[in-house]
Amino acid sequence: MARQEFQSLRGMADLIGQPAGQMSNLISQFRAVAEAAGYGRIETPLLEDTGLFVRSVGADTDAVAKELYTFTDRSDHSVSLRPEFTAGIVRAYIEHGLSSWPQPVKLYTDGALFRYDRPQGGRQRQFNQVNVEAFGEAAPSMDAQVITLVQRFFKRIRLNNVSLQLNSLGDPACRPRYRKALVDYLKEHEKQLAEIDRERLAKNPLRVLDSKEAATRAVLSEAPQTLNYLCEDCQKHFAGVLEYLDDLGLAYELNPLLVRGLDYYTRTVFEFYGEREGAQSALGGGGRYDLLVELLGGQPTPAVGFALGLERILLELAADGALPAAVVPKRVYVASLGEPARLAAFRLIEQLLDGGVAATGAVDRDGIGAQLERANRQGVDYAVIIGQKEVREDTVILRDMTSGAQEVLPANAIVAELRTRFGVT
Ligand code: HAM
Repeated sequence: MARQEFQSLRGMADLIGQPAGQMSNLISQFRAVAEAAGYGRIETPLLEDTGLFVRSVGADTDAVAKELYTFTDRSDHSVSLRPEFTAGIVRAYIEHGLSSWPQPVKLYTDGALFRYDRPQGGRQRQFNQVNVEAFGEAAPSMDAQVITLVQRFFKRIRLNNVSLQLNSLGDPACRPRYRKALVDYLKEHEKQLAEIDRERLAKNPLRVLDSKEAATRAVLSEAPQTLNYLCEDCQKHFAGVLEYLDDLGLAYELNPLLVRGLDYYTRTVFEFYGEREGAQSALGGGGRYDLLVELLGGQPTPAVGFALGLERILLELAADGALPAAVVPKRVYVASLGEPARLAAFRLIEQLLDGGVAATGAVDRDGIGAQLERANRQGVDYAVIIGQKEVREDTVILRDMTSGAQEVLPANAIVAELRTRFGVT
């Protein structure tokens, strides 16, 4: 056999059958939760101007500096595959004048993102997120509501034991003071920092808080904490968010080192963690980004949102033993024997599908035994059998594949009969 020449690219997976069903099942569950909470659907392109991501996500972030899939198109424009949704959604919000809609404007989306990272369990180069953004509401209730939306989704897919970590990064009134305190502290301990973090300290000191390096983390345990530097407005906002969560009895942990990997956040930031060990265990995260709409050329507009990584959620569900089985609708298999039954079987499959009944079948091959064997393997609920006698008498045989019981029905009654049995309305 010839050697296969092409394989999927590293970090990019094919999903076939069950895993593909689980992925789309997760997405439809999320859509239901988001739509019930008043979020409308948005879809933005996979490709955007590279500058959009540099400006919003940040030139020094890993997602942009190291992981962006960037190329020059045939008109010499630098374009990039989206590494996340927020930047594109903010661009669309401004471009289509969504600020003139009644506020808050609440949008959700899902789909593929691209980051050229080193692939490992739970980290791919092409991965999927579900994502929401809420524009135009500055009150802490909005932060709390996007967080409870995530919790409701986890509950719906029966993902238990997810922990929530929260922090506040302040705003332009208080962050500079914090930044200075952090830089002063880190400079004092510069020799103990990992080399990569010495570079981060020079370029974007808040990124150091996100470090995975053991040496740096030891230094960070004593570092100044954002929550102690918040201005009065930011303190009030954060206390407001916590008040709503406390009122609902929702558990969370304050994590003073939580800064998120993207530069646009102000005030509240949060992340969700599963029980699987390791650096790839963040199932999702988000926060407020009150300056981003203006930074990209829109009116000043407060905003908050989050994204969840679907591959990680599927891994977590598998580890938890709670992976939802894809919902398989009731199905029928049409088996036929001999030339005269061929057209009748083909026609019946079409009539069943037109009538809203899930139907498959083989019309022009194999003996009846092999066809029923295939029906069995497919796990269908019923088989309809048409042989020469049935064609002559204008009947069909309906076989219950679970019990094996068979009955003869008039050919023109079978579609209505299966519609009733399958509850098709
Ligand atoms: P993020 O933290 O970069 O946030 O990504 C959210 C989630 O996407 C992560 O927690 C993780 O589950 C998943 N994820 C990220 N990278 C990968 C990867 N390489 N492979 C598999 N899963 C991955 C954002 O993207 C923000 N846009 C969220 C947001 C929306 N903030 C405000 N609005």
